[in-house]
Amino acid sequence: MTTPDNSPDKLPQHLAVVMDGNGRWAKKRFMPRTAGHKAGVNATRKLVAACAARGIPVLTVFAFSSENWNRPEQEVSTLMSLFVTTLSSEISKLHKQNVQVRFIGDRTRFDECLQKGIMDAEQLTRNNTGLVFNIAANYGGRWDIVNAARQLLQKHSGESVTEERFAQYLQTPDLPDVDLFIRTGGEQRISNFLIWQSAYAELYFTDTLWPDFDEQSLHQALDWYAERERRFGKTSKQIQQEQQNKQAS
Ligand code: IPE
Ligand code: IPE
Ligand code: MG
Repeated sequence: MTTPDNSPDKLPQHLAVVMDGNGRWAKKRFMPRTAGHKAGVNATRKLVAACAARGIPVLTVFAFSSENWNRPEQEVSTLMSLFVTTLSSEISKLHKQNVQVRFIGDRTRFDECLQKGIMDAEQLTRNNTGLVFNIAANYGGRWDIVNAARQLLQKHSGESVTEERFAQYLQTPDLPDVDLFIRTGGEQRISNFLIWQSAYAELYFTDTLWPDFDEQSLHQALDWYAERERRFGKTSKQIQQEQQNKQAS
């Protein structure tokens, strides 16, 4: 086996994952959708460990979208309890792994118990220096942008609006843009996840259902990413020249 290339231009500095397919995973096994969500938690735990082991600095996962409130009440309430129990059972392990846990999204809609769990988790792990594990809960990309615009208007009325200043009001002010965006479950859509932050992300879609996504699946996605030529509007020739100059210096 060759050693993976972990240089910053080969390894995503920010990985975003739409963990989709829990319901279908359960359906295939004649189990309730909830069983799929529980199995999904195990896959997420493995993902965090695999990202930390690989040296990925930032991981953002889509746990619950602002549109997911429209699911049947029973499923929503099961998901909410799963968040609470998972947070309390996992947080000390994450802390021991030096993981910094953060949440993005509008947490005010969650009940008090979950809001407290979120606050405590962030507080406990805030000085950790390992993987930044960002959990998007009640998150929507449009909400993020409108929320940023609202704050910018309140605080900076009259000043010129630049992309940099605007981004400071998003949920991710200190994080790099998304380099690699993975969606499991076969759908090829963004579903309102990190739409600003993923403007230039490489998009990776796999049919694997989220509970089946393992370390090997992650490595496959990372190998695919390492082969991309990211041009950011330039030509291929310019990019190759830049690489040669970098190697020569
Ligand atoms: C993703 O899996 C998890 C959440 C949205 C919370 P789904 O529940 O969307 O699974 P499918 O897409 O129905 O299979
Ligand atoms: C996206 O999955 C949200 C999460 C994974 C949390 P959905 O299953 O809700 O997405 P759509 O509605 O099929 O696009
Ligand atoms: Mg889905």
